[in-house]
Amino acid sequence: MKTKLESIDSDRVPNHIAIIMDGNGRWAKNKGMQRVFGHRNALTAVRESVNAARDAGTKFITLYAFSTENWNRPKLEVDALMSLLVSSLKSELPNFHKNGIKVNSIGAVENLPKKAQKVLESIIEQTAINTEITLTFALSYGSREEIVNAIKNISKKVVNNEIDVKKIDEKVINNHLYTFNLPDVDLMIRTSGEQRISNFLLWQMAYAELYFTDVLWPDFRKEHLFDAIINYQNRERRFGKTSEQIDTNV
Ligand code: IPE
Ligand code: IPE
Ligand code: MG
Repeated sequence: MKTKLESIDSDRVPNHIAIIMDGNGRWAKNKGMQRVFGHRNALTAVRESVNAARDAGTKFITLYAFSTENWNRPKLEVDALMSLLVSSLKSELPNFHKNGIKVNSIGAVENLPKKAQKVLESIIEQTAINTEITLTFALSYGSREEIVNAIKNISKKVVNNEIDVKKIDEKVINNHLYTFNLPDVDLMIRTSGEQRISNFLLWQMAYAELYFTDVLWPDFRKEHLFDAIINYQNRERRFGKTSEQIDTNV
């Protein structure tokens, strides 16, 4: 019997996987615990999914860790999430090195507490030499805000004659997003049964395959990620073409 990893076609692995890590609160509630207990138990899922993606040959994984809208949660929960971010980034550093993980971030990180900004910056710097997989944390991230910022920055350049309006194309817009150094998303996974995008990578997911699973994030393991990749490989990505064109490569 082939293992799940062996069932993956190494020539057709999604290059960039993005995950909406959802369901921590419900996971805790199911156990009669406070929501924060769910967040505290989410680290294994993070570790497993990043390592699984790397094992499969994926080069970029982006995790939605905190949205612009999540600032509206009770202060107690926001504070707990921020301190968990700091402690997990610190404790994971040896794992990042051991597994060749290069850490990156997207979002309005200037809105994070100073301590979190510092730790994040330091981890990004220290892991910059790693080359197996790029792990991007979306923190204080909102896709609409990202697009608004891009428009503002491009407009400023137009006013200063740095960019000609006629030259504005998809590439220019890409270069002004937080994700300027990341490829488009190939596969987006959301856990917990919710089937929505929640303001995540709207531009970057234009042609992503979407995969939804009922598994709550703290229960997510390597096998679940492999299942998602196998499911992805059973789809035909047509990018507007016909099936016949894809088959004959024209
Ligand atoms: C995802 O789990 C973690 C974050 C959004 C930070 P939730 O906290 O959204 O858990 P549910 O959706 O309430 O179960
Ligand atoms: C999306 O989850 C944000 C993160 C996973 C960080 P939410 O649980 O905040 O999403 P909605 O608001 O229920 O769609
Ligand atoms: Mg949620």
